Amino acid sequence: MENEILKRIENKTLKISIIGLGYVGLPLAVEFSKNDFEVYGIDIDEEKVKSINEGISYIPDVSSEELSSLVKNNKIKAYSSYDILNNVDVIIISVPTPLSKTKDPDLSYIMNAVDNIKRYLKRGHVVILESTTYPGTTDEVIKPILEETGLRCGIDFFLAFSPERVNPGDKVYKLKNTPKIVGGVDELSGKIVYNIYSKIIDKVVIVSSSKVAEMAKLLENTFRAVNIALVNEIAIMCNILNIDVWEVIEAAGTKPFGFMKFYPGPGIGGHCIPVDPIYLSWKMKMLNYNARLIEVASEINTNMPRYVVQRVGEILNEYERSIKGSRILILGVAYKKDVNDVRESPAIDIISLLADKGAIVYYFDPYVPRIKVGEFEVESIELTADILKESDLVILVTDHSVFDYDFIYKHSNLIFDTKNAFKNYKEKVYKL
Ligand SMILES: NC(=O)c1ccc[n+]([C@@H]2O[C@H](COP(=O)([O-])OP(=O)(O)OC[C@H]3O[C@@H](n4cnc5c(N)ncnc54)[C@H](O)[C@@H]3O)[C@@H](O)[C@H]2O)c1
Repeated sequence: MENEILKRIENKTLKISIIGLGYVGLPLAVEFSKNDFEVYGIDIDEEKVKSINEGISYIPDVSSEELSSLVKNNKIKAYSSYDILNNVDVIIISVPTPLSKTKDPDLSYIMNAVDNIKRYLKRGHVVILESTTYPGTTDEVIKPILEETGLRCGIDFFLAFSPERVNPGDKVYKLKNTPKIVGGVDELSGKIVYNIYSKIIDKVVIVSSSKVAEMAKLLENTFRAVNIALVNEIAIMCNILNIDVWEVIEAAGTKPFGFMKFYPGPGIGGHCIPVDPIYLSWKMKMLNYNARLIEVASEINTNMPRYVVQRVGEILNEYERSIKGSRILILGVAYKKDVNDVRESPAIDIISLLADKGAIVYYFDPYVPRIKVGEFEVESIELTADILKESDLVILVTDHSVFDYDFIYKHSNLIFDTKNAFKNYKEKVYKL
């Protein structure tokens, strides 16, 4: 069977299915189909399925032009039913792995996908988990469920973990030129999956087990979360010391070794950095180990929206104003620049905290027409000179490249810049 599978990878006749067609799944589907594989996507969201089959992309990194040509040439087709798994060889899982209300890992999406895969599992199937999760998920949780079919992992079917590193909005590092890690539950699974990704990605790095691959992904994102927390705390200290943190970072960044620049901000967001380290600390808690650095970093980062609001109070105070009754415009609500993703975005907390204190808050984000803040849905306003003039304070939360910073500066009364986007402007600009 090994030779047969490797031969079919080589001549690209293996049929690929991708379960979960979001920020990770859709670009992956496009990459496989661009490289001549037939791709069958599955998503429980009927709207996404319809949109893909009409060739309309809802992910900024995938153009509708590219998607529609692949759909027209029958290279990609999306389904909301799992029946298509009868006709495929490779099954890639890229469903969400959020936190529950009690801040525990929520594996329910993975479990649902795996229960469905189990119903269709057959000899020769290759199953790959891409969703970020804690070490042990692939071999201790998924493998036993799939083996309940009587099929044996590494002999009848193959199973591996391969973390996704896609960085939405990144113009340089795309799927193809970002090295990809593969960890098989057994050696043969690792080898097969290595060969599959090698067909679409420039460099594939094979590691000795799925656990190593799972942990490597968590190290990458914990590294980011901890370093962002460090620089956020440095920003708070610099403010107390009346030192410009942005200048400090640039100065330290001139050291050619042993230092890497991270920047402070209004808080962290997205589906990865605020969430992934918690998967690790939860797993360690189960084993009676307290991952202290993760806890502290998470606390500092989570507290940043509160710190922003505290600074807003101090800034307005200088002008004998209070938060209550002030008109405050939030610029950018996406969790980072040039994307439309608002999951875990600190802007949501900032808006809600300011509104709780009695401010009149509104926002502008060209990528996010509306946003849910608690129970309410708020719509983006149009950015005009009048709106800027009428606002007591403008808070730059997301530094989208399309913002006209000259225009914003010219018409604003006061700006609180959490991203150093107004670094070339001095008066009336307060920086984090
Ligand atoms: N977004 C990123 O930048 C990024 C980067 C690296 C890793 N990841 C990881 O990749 C995984 C997916 O993240 P995402 O951002 O693509 O999420 P997403 O929410 O954009 O997409 C997930 C998709 O899965 C679908 N889905 C949920 N349950 C399903 C099921 N049982 N069957 C079929 N479809 C189902 C949802 O409808 C959704 O369309 C997560 O584990 C995340 O941590 C995300």
